[in-house]
Amino acid sequence: MSWIDEKAHRELSRVREAREMGVYPFFRPFESGGLRTTVNGHAFVNFSSNDYLGLTTHPKVLEAAHKAIDRYACGLSSSRVQATTVAHVELEGRLAKFFGFEKALITTTGYQAMVGTIMALADEKTTLVLDQLSHACILDGTFLAAGTPKRSPEVRFFNHNSARSLERILKSRERENALVLVEGIYSLDGDKGTLREIIEVCERHNAVLVVDDAHGSGTLGTHGRGVLEDLALEGRAPIVVSTFSKVFGGIGGIILGSTEVVELIQHTARSFVFSATLPVPIVAAAAEILTMLEDDGPALVAELHANAAYMRGELIRRGFDLGASNTHIMPVMVRDERKALVMHHMLYEMGVHMVPITYPGVKQGEERLRVNVTRGHTRDEINHALDALEELGTQCEIRVQDRAAPATEG
Ligand SMILES: Cc1ncc(COP(=O)(O)O)c(C=O)c1O
Repeated sequence: MSWIDEKAHRELSRVREAREMGVYPFFRPFESGGLRTTVNGHAFVNFSSNDYLGLTTHPKVLEAAHKAIDRYACGLSSSRVQATTVAHVELEGRLAKFFGFEKALITTTGYQAMVGTIMALADEKTTLVLDQLSHACILDGTFLAAGTPKRSPEVRFFNHNSARSLERILKSRERENALVLVEGIYSLDGDKGTLREIIEVCERHNAVLVVDDAHGSGTLGTHGRGVLEDLALEGRAPIVVSTFSKVFGGIGGIILGSTEVVELIQHTARSFVFSATLPVPIVAAAAEILTMLEDDGPALVAELHANAAYMRGELIRRGFDLGASNTHIMPVMVRDERKALVMHHMLYEMGVHMVPITYPGVKQGEERLRVNVTRGHTRDEINHALDALEELGTQCEIRVQDRAAPATEG
């Protein structure tokens, strides 16, 4: 056995254990797309999907993608530098207009968009300041930047969502320029970023704010323009990074900012320049969903929020602990790895898919089920999921009776 075989065997012990218990929850091979699918013929409804507006399988979206395949095929076999199409450029123009920025750039994933943004903007004169609960794409962009010879920025973390902690860090930073990275909605906890306070601190300390609004684009704000619209802060954050992998029904990243800053990223972000272009059928699908948001955004967002308000009210009434959530992302706190795996498995058997989030995704003792309600779920499906959760929550003794509801709804 070589050391890599030994390493793999040692580090996969928890995976083996979950498989031996028959509760391994990941990489299930779905037999179709959409919120309702099967695995080996077993049908279930997906409550861990990020298809928040339920538009991924809309006939118009599928038709747009089919047409684009005929014209552009499934890929362009090159990076955007030499494989940009009119479809990319047109959609970039429309995204910039919809979200209210001078310029937009489409990348192949949201992860790449964030990694590339950080790598392009941070250098030896920069302090990168991160919320301690930052998504992996922010962490990885930061670690790559920090490991870049002769350009390595200072890296500091502030307490989650704490403007006071951020201010302390900004005051004591060692480098002249500060780039602060936060999220519109923190995806594992479902709580919104406290952006008003954070923006005020950034403005006081001449720091540039980057907002990752992967989960807020299309879900927050009356028109779905995201967390900045929701909190009446449009125009106050210079850069927003987002994704097509949630509301926009496919895959792909979005970088929004001023013309020159986005052009700088476009010409220097290594994750963008050295990776293949987003296929046009995906661009066409996202463009179709953008049209729906332009035409009917308020109604689509309101329908999502109606489902979210119902689900939240019922989860709380039935005694579940939703942690810090104040949006349509409502983690059901289990606080025990085995129970989270067992509950996931039993829910799955009952036709409800809720992925467990365990260490290292969250701290030990903060294990939870990922519960995302979407506009696409029917009331019957939501009620069935709630009944199943209540039955298992009682059996597993995870319910907290009489817990007060968080004040706001996303
Ligand atoms: C907060 C956040 N940022 C970025 C991403 C990455 O987006 P993508 O799936 O487009 O790579 C995700 C997706 O998991 C996310 O949750």
